[in-house]
Amino acid sequence: MERARMNNPAILAFDAYGTLFDVHSAAARLEAMIGPEAGRLSQIWRDKQLQYTWVRALMDRHQDFEAVTEAALDHAIATVGGLPAGVREQLLDAYLSLDAYGEVREVLSALKAAGARLAILSNGTPRMLDAAVRSSGLEGLFDAVLSIEQAGIYKPSPRVYRLVTDAFDIAPEAVSFQSSNRWDVAGASAFGFKTVWVNRTGQADEFPDLPADRIVEDLRPLLEMQRASRVA
Ligand code: LAC
Repeated sequence: MERARMNNPAILAFDAYGTLFDVHSAAARLEAMIGPEAGRLSQIWRDKQLQYTWVRALMDRHQDFEAVTEAALDHAIATVGGLPAGVREQLLDAYLSLDAYGEVREVLSALKAAGARLAILSNGTPRMLDAAVRSSGLEGLFDAVLSIEQAGIYKPSPRVYRLVTDAFDIAPEAVSFQSSNRWDVAGASAFGFKTVWVNRTGQADEFPDLPADRIVEDLRPLLEMQRASRVA
């Protein structure tokens, strides 16, 4: 019974960056211009971007995700010793059209066709999310694209996860939340969502007091979960 309930959520809400969109695709596209430091630059960029969100949330000094992403890139560029002229701007542009992971469009389309209601819940600004959804051909799949800008604070504040329950007027346990970010899964679990950790890169588990309900390597198992819930 518990399994059937978990597999039959009214809403599937997805984290965006790292879960639907490959944050490392921007630097990968420009690798020829960046050189051998491209991978390290991209990782520092992502790590600092997230760190800045948490620091800003704790300080109560909100800056939107575009500003935070830009500041994090500047730190990453300084750390690797600089970049050729113009590459910084190209990286920021590329961040508006990141690649979706290979299975994302097909899985989301099938989930939608099977009657699931889909949402994005992301730190991204509405402009960033709009651009990412459009450029990766995911338009029309989401019932709601929710930006933390509506809450004015970053994940994992409970105020952010509440955007989903408010938007759909449902209880937290009716939401299945998918994220590749383990700390985001922890935040969602603390709020009361059912959670799926999309562990794309084989990370070690953490936050044992706030475990994921399911752990998957990509989004494809969601289709089986959806089918199982229709049988149950
Ligand atoms: C997001 C960040 C966590 O999309 O990547 O919310």
